[in-house]
Amino acid sequence: MILPIYLYGQSILRKITKDIPLDYPNLNNLLDTMFETMYNAEGVGLAAPQIGLEDRILVIDLAPCAEIDPACADFKKVFINAHIVERDGEEVLMEEGCLSIPNIHEKVLRPGRIRIQYLDENLQAHDEVFEGYPARVIQHEYDHLDGIMFVDRIAGIRKQLIRSKLNKIMKKNVQCSYRVK
Ligand code: NI
Repeated sequence: MILPIYLYGQSILRKITKDIPLDYPNLNNLLDTMFETMYNAEGVGLAAPQIGLEDRILVIDLAPCAEIDPACADFKKVFINAHIVERDGEEVLMEEGCLSIPNIHEKVLRPGRIRIQYLDENLQAHDEVFEGYPARVIQHEYDHLDGIMFVDRIAGIRKQLIRSKLNKIMKKNVQCSYRVK
């Protein structure tokens, strides 16, 4: 099932999500829906608040980014009850976009390396370190779980320059190839 994606300005995107219970009903259906909604919008990551849920879940498939970083080729992962426990490495400036903020791309500074604890789609626990492009996308999606959007992390002057575009998105005055809410 493909769901509409909530746009910048919707209050759900500012909520801090909660860990889900291990008996969460129809979890596999939800994960399928998240991947389908993400693929339909040609995204590489999607967090549950972007489809209106206050659940600590994100999905990522970096296959389209294999040319940027070979580690992306078979990087399809689900992160349930995800918690980043360490961030280090050199800070990297890289351009980001977001399905909830269509047609805006800005450079964001983030740590190059993270350690994250999470459950996979089979509710198996993992404690892993990621670097490079995977670390970048995980941090972007993970921010959504804490009510943070990438435009919160860009320099004030750049944020001033995109203010009117953000205001248009808040009024749903935006061209988009996928359904939005
Ligand atoms: Ni995003």
